[in-house]
Amino acid sequence: MTLHIEEHADRVVATLDRPEKRNAIDQDTIDALHSLCARLEVAPRTLILTGSGGVFAAGADIAQLRERTAADARKGINAMAFIRINDLPMPVIAAIDGYALGGGAELAYAADIRIATPSLRIGNPETGLGIIAAAGATWRLPEIVGEARASDLLLTGRTLDADEALQWGLVSAVHPADELLDAAHAIADRIAANDPLATRHTKRAIRTPRAQHPAIELELQAELFESPEKHRRMTEFLERKRR
Ligand code: COA
Repeated sequence: MTLHIEEHADRVVATLDRPEKRNAIDQDTIDALHSLCARLEVAPRTLILTGSGGVFAAGADIAQLRERTAADARKGINAMAFIRINDLPMPVIAAIDGYALGGGAELAYAADIRIATPSLRIGNPETGLGIIAAAGATWRLPEIVGEARASDLLLTGRTLDADEALQWGLVSAVHPADELLDAAHAIADRIAANDPLATRHTKRAIRTPRAQHPAIELELQAELFESPEKHRRMTEFLERKRR
């Protein structure tokens, strides 16, 4: 088992668990991520992604990558899995300790929210291995940190430490390693206190291309304006002083 899954009523914690290979993402891990996504697409819950052994993921599995062909590249083995994760209905939180390199960084870029520890080392050394970062970095990283910073990272292959990643906004908070998961759960708790449908619709609106705004949020809001949960939550607010 390369992916350890812990189930909760309102969230799932998925831990990349191949510490002897620094959680390198191999085909088994990708298969496990796909089956997890299949379940979360049917029964949406918040997903916390993390890694064991003080590492998030040291990249795609280079032993497998070395043998892959042009046809394999065109399948986008990692890219498709990370798109599916990014497309999950409920938020995805990456809790990143230590190395998040190459495909490991791209998995983190696919999350909606990223938090890390002081030992974070994140970056894309792919060009040093004679390939490009083709599992989302070239388009997701510019969306997250802007094209200039993405170019700095992707064209040099250098890694950022926690301070720089925080300053760039690539991670939104840094916590001591022994508090990282609690911090991720605290974010999931906040999310769980809100209306799940409103959360899902917010995620959808954020991720919808510019040209489709404002039509998309008006349609999503139209659905919510007539939901019983909206009425209940607003009534609860309006009547709170009367109790
Ligand atoms: N793919 C396959 N195996 C990997 C791996 C990867 N991306 N990253 C680490 N491993 C393996 C090593 O080959 C080693 O295996 P072995 O014990 O069978 O020899 C084991 O994990 C431990 O790695 P090691 O390099 O000894 O650990 P470290 O703690 O000294 O260094 C890193 C950690 C992350 C700095 C180093 O492993 C590294 O540079 N990994 C590759 C990073 C990379 O280029 N990723 C981009 C891939 S697209």
